Amino acid sequence: MRIAVLISGKGSNLSSVVEAQKAGQLGSATVEVVIADKHCSGLLVATNEGIPTVVADSDRNIVIEETLTQYGIELVVCAGFMRILPKQLVCDRDWQVINIHPSLLPLHPGLRAVEQALADGSTKTGCTVHYVDEFIDHGQTIAQVEVPIQESDTPETLHVRIQKEEHQLLPLVIKQLALRRQ
Ligand code: GRF
Repeated sequence: MRIAVLISGKGSNLSSVVEAQKAGQLGSATVEVVIADKHCSGLLVATNEGIPTVVADSDRNIVIEETLTQYGIELVVCAGFMRILPKQLVCDRDWQVINIHPSLLPLHPGLRAVEQALADGSTKTGCTVHYVDEFIDHGQTIAQVEVPIQESDTPETLHVRIQKEEHQLLPLVIKQLALRRQ
């Protein structure tokens, strides 16, 4: 299963997927290309592993579509990608699109999900991998992991614990999707 990973930031989730692939834990899934909407440190994760990168900083959606087609992509993984993909890139395509989000969706969609969970007095939050549709953080949930909130938590400490779970969950989901395709 040929994967493209879309990023905007530091790429720790990308790194977890690449490490899982190297460890033989990703089934038939392989990261073929990494696409970013701007120059960001996560691109180094890809270049260090010899994975092609594309920076789609102008004509973004056209470049993304051309790249996905060029690489024969079957699964698009949004891993900290801070742009909304238009409907024509996510619906009725040769590829499926998934996203990882740092909350227990449908709770706390959109930006600042970790802050939202702290602000509304939740006792737990977590992370969700879901299919992407044309709405923000909205498509069908594939898998979730809960993370308890501690009284002493700041957005930073809580996000660190959520990310630990993300780094386990995302490769696991990709492996399961790859198995289903076989
Ligand atoms: C993750 O917490 C993810 O849930 C959210 O953006 C963050 C990306 O982190 N969508 P990284 O760039 O993978 O480190």
